[in-house]
Amino acid sequence: KTATFIAHPEFEVGAVDPRLFGSFIENLGRAVYGGVYEPGHPSADDQGFRQDVIELVRELNVPIVRYPGGNFVSGYNWEDGVGPLADRPRRLELAWRTIETNAVGTNEFVDWARKANTEVMMAVNLGTRGADAARNLVEYCNHPGGTAWSDLRVKHGYKDPHKIKTWCLGNEMDGPWQICSKTAEEYGRAAAEAGKLMKWVDPTIELVACGSSSSNMPSFPAWESTVLDHTYEHVDFISLHQYYGNKDNSLPSFLARSVDMERFIKTVTSTCDFVKAKKRSKKTMNLSFDEWNVWFHSNNADAELAPWQIAPPQLEDIYTFEDALVVGLMLIALLRNADRVKMGCLAQLVNVIAPIMTVNGGGIWRQTIFYPFAHASQYGRGVALDLRIQSPAYETTDLGDIPYIDAVATMNPEDESISIFAVSRAQGEPFTLEGDLRSFAGYEVTDHIVLAHSDPKATNTLANPDNVVPHCGCSNTRFEDGRLTSLLTPLSWNVIRLE
Ligand code: AHR
Repeated sequence: KTATFIAHPEFEVGAVDPRLFGSFIENLGRAVYGGVYEPGHPSADDQGFRQDVIELVRELNVPIVRYPGGNFVSGYNWEDGVGPLADRPRRLELAWRTIETNAVGTNEFVDWARKANTEVMMAVNLGTRGADAARNLVEYCNHPGGTAWSDLRVKHGYKDPHKIKTWCLGNEMDGPWQICSKTAEEYGRAAAEAGKLMKWVDPTIELVACGSSSSNMPSFPAWESTVLDHTYEHVDFISLHQYYGNKDNSLPSFLARSVDMERFIKTVTSTCDFVKAKKRSKKTMNLSFDEWNVWFHSNNADAELAPWQIAPPQLEDIYTFEDALVVGLMLIALLRNADRVKMGCLAQLVNVIAPIMTVNGGGIWRQTIFYPFAHASQYGRGVALDLRIQSPAYETTDLGDIPYIDAVATMNPEDESISIFAVSRAQGEPFTLEGDLRSFAGYEVTDHIVLAHSDPKATNTLANPDNVVPHCGCSNTRFEDGRLTSLLTPLSWNVIRLE
């Protein structure tokens, strides 16, 4: 069985914004408390940040991290999380039914982000609060000084403004589970006015309006159309969120979910362009896919948790090898739409549906999904190239024919390297991938990284952290006279590098 592609510089999709490889930390479960922050842990620094976590976040190469939610943000008073620790209130946190101690807030998270070599994507509360609290937070964070809010930041020990550039106008406001959810009309007006004031405080910021919570929402895509009717000239991005699971234990169907994701992207793009046309606007709206991942393993355990605990183990999915393949396929879908999807956040980063897992007071390990994300973030920079891939396909009931092989490439102008990202959805038999790269004369294959495992349900754990790890597949790949031939292991994630 063979799949073919053509790589040509003219098949450029668009520039990859580094923020496509963002992630997400919410005040939820053990993401912050026990993940990012654990004073007393052997690796904690003087601020209580776990160095072992920071090291893996750096390894993952995450340029931006969304914070502090998520559903959490819709009930959050940001003022609770700044100033002297002893004065910070403990609150009932209604989104996840926990106790929030507020030991970590805006300033600590900005410090953590600097240490982890990343930037903050800040979300404001448009649930219980609105434009006033949002514009005050922008003033607190970004205004140099000489006003009540900016001077309060200085008093809290932060003389220089944080210069946070990317801001989310609320979170999943269409969802009935959201604290103070809204209709599209209500949210559109609230987001437009909040965004207007936030940009009046700091005109350099970029804003993300909430799209639908997923493509399954009954109001999708009318929600996007109405929200953009109100916000089009005020915002820079509309968000997309999507999680997939394999509850029916059907691997072919699970591996097909990235096709659903790509259709979601196309529909949102079309909706943005429809509103642009209606408004005779010159501005093109970009997409922020600021929550995406596999999420289902922990659903039953979460239903059993007692409420009102501090940092309980919520949403702690232990990822399998097949989940890593789905994450790889989702990354390919994002890259193939890099002309419009400029930001993405793997949700989330530590302990909560995360590539990085920790034990309170103990060790740390990389989940299976760590690897495709790390590879894509490290090598998927520059411009994305569509590969015009042709592959035999299999049938699914809901999504039609699904190609066994999916692939995309990036070309990095900095070092002129080319990276081909390919997933084989085929079980049982290897596929040959044949590529026409005659336009790239003089290149040589320098690496072929493979993530494969004989057991789709294989996991990494603290006790067995290297069960699912990448290996070199270089002997499977030849490159002669501009023609690439590579044998793809059944069920595998592959990165073929040329320089
Ligand atoms: O990432 C977990 C949750 O998923 C987020 O809080 C919410 O935005 C989404 O429903």
